[in-house]
Formats: sequence, C-alpha cells, structure tokens
Amino acid sequence: MKNILITGALGQIGSELAVKLRSIYGADHVVTTDIRKTDCEAAESGPFEILDVTNGKALLATAKKYRADTIIHMAAVLSATAEANPVFAWNLNMGGLMNALEIARDLNCQFFTPSSIGAFGPTTPKDNTPQDTLQRPTTMYGVNKVAGELLADYYFYKFGVDTRGLRFPGLISYVTPPGGGTTDYAVEIYYEAVKHKRYTCYIAQGTYMDMMYMPDALNAIIELMEADPARLKHRNSFNVTAMSFEPEEIAAEIRKAIPEFKLHYQVDPDRQRIADSWPNSIDATAATEEWGFTTEFDLAKMTEDMLQQLAVKQS
Ligand code: SER
Repeated sequence: MKNILITGALGQIGSELAVKLRSIYGADHVVTTDIRKTDCEAAESGPFEILDVTNGKALLATAKKYRADTIIHMAAVLSATAEANPVFAWNLNMGGLMNALEIARDLNCQFFTPSSIGAFGPTTPKDNTPQDTLQRPTTMYGVNKVAGELLADYYFYKFGVDTRGLRFPGLISYVTPPGGGTTDYAVEIYYEAVKHKRYTCYIAQGTYMDMMYMPDALNAIIELMEADPARLKHRNSFNVTAMSFEPEEIAAEIRKAIPEFKLHYQVDPDRQRIADSWPNSIDATAATEEWGFTTEFDLAKMTEDMLQQLAVKQS
C-alpha cells in the first residue's frame, strides 16, 4: 500500500482508518472520498474528493489522479437501511463494488472491501459459525455481502486482482457513529449511558451478536492487507470477531462505572428480525492461522475506554 484511495471514507470505519493510514503511509498517500464532505479529520488531514461510487468514470478519474495502487472500498449502506430500501441498496452496494473492482483490475490495484456477519442467514450454524459454511442470508444487505464476497473472489481468480476482505461483526467506536445498522445499539448505549444514564434498546434481551472495538478492526484491515499472499488460503472474506454479547451483558459492564445505569427495551421488529437471522458468535480461526489475526479489546476493556472517551467528548 503506497497510494491508497478510500471510498465512503467519512463513514464509521473509513473516518478512523484514513487517519491511521495517513499516520503510517503519509498524509499525501491516502486520498479520502465520499458522497459529501463533513467537518472531520479524515476530510481535512490530507487530500479529499467528493465522489459518488456509482459513477464509474469519476471513480476511475480520481484513482488515476492520485496514482492509486490500493483501493479500500467502504461506500455502502448498512443492514437496516438496505432492508428499508432494497433497490437503492442493491444499486449502491453492488454498483459501487463492481465499479471499484473494475478500476482495481484496470489500474492493477490491491483491493479491500468489508463483508459482514450479515453474510450469514438463519440456516447457518449459529454458534462458533465456521469460516466456510452455509450462507443463505434473508436480508438485502446479506445478499449484497455474499454476492460481494463471490465477486471479489472472482476478480482474484479470473483477473489476478489482489482482493482481500473481512467479515466484520458490529463495530464499536466513539469517533463516528454508525448509521442504519442492526448492531448500532451497542454504540448508542454508551453515548446514552454517559449522557442520560439510561438507554432504551431496540434489540431484545438475550440476542447475542459478535462485536469488535474499532482499534482492533483497523489493525485487522492493515494486517490483512500487509499479509504475505502465499499464506492466504481464503481471500473474501475472513471471519473476525473480538466478543459476543447480548444487551444485558453490556449493561452490566457499564454499571461497573455507572451503577445507576438503566436499560429498557422497545424492540424494533425489523431490526430484531435481522439480528435473529445472524450468528450468535463466529469462529475466527482461519484469520488467526492465515495472517495472525488477534484482538486487544474484550467487553470490559472496550467499555472502560468507550466511557472514558465519551465522557471527555460529551463534556
Ligand atoms: N454493523 C452492520 C449492521 O448492523 C453489520 O455488518 O448492519
């Protein structure tokens, strides 16, 4: 990775990844792009371009302008948004990916795009979900993610594009909030705990999903992209996870710092249906074996850091 182009760079992952990549590879070697500009470090700390990924010509021109040798394709909508507007989700998630892969092929770029626990479905084994298993998702987001995994593998086998990907769980961070995801509750709960000492959760008690703290997710992307290709048996995409919990467990952890914290429920049937179709916990052994995936943050360590950081941010 010498000259990196990030699409959707002002979103939850990109906004932090861009800053980290700039600190490693140099500010001028990472161009951030997004459909709109917001005031944030990822847009201000180096080159930034407004870019709609469904416009293949504009994407190609930007990649050429910055002599990109790496494309990190983050532009996409998350599960709940995709479920509310499936045609829009198909056009953006698949159209954008196809454009980005074509440009990676044209310009001989290394390529990363995230998949998700959403690539699994109700018939997938729920506990310790294997790397290679049944993938019949019942959401538009899941359909996009499975198709995306297959497409990225296809570009590797057919055209030799160095495509790599991770199946991310819910990602938790205090910098940029996610939007339109099913796992977003696990971010909101911290903001509300610090601000109001209570939270009304749209996911039902007892619903387990995999999660990961953002610093571990960023390290995983960089380590996978830097991994020796000879060691990779898989490409798109590796299961990665740091923890699996249900709402009561995160609340109990928050109460260690904020004893009066109260958790209530008002279940959103749409997002609950999505959550119920996903695994309880996935197995990341392939990632550990093939490129040394590790994590630093468990629920306790993440909670401590989130609450401290948000107390500073919201003061
Ligand atoms: N965090 C995502 C979502 O909830 C899952 O990949 O949609």
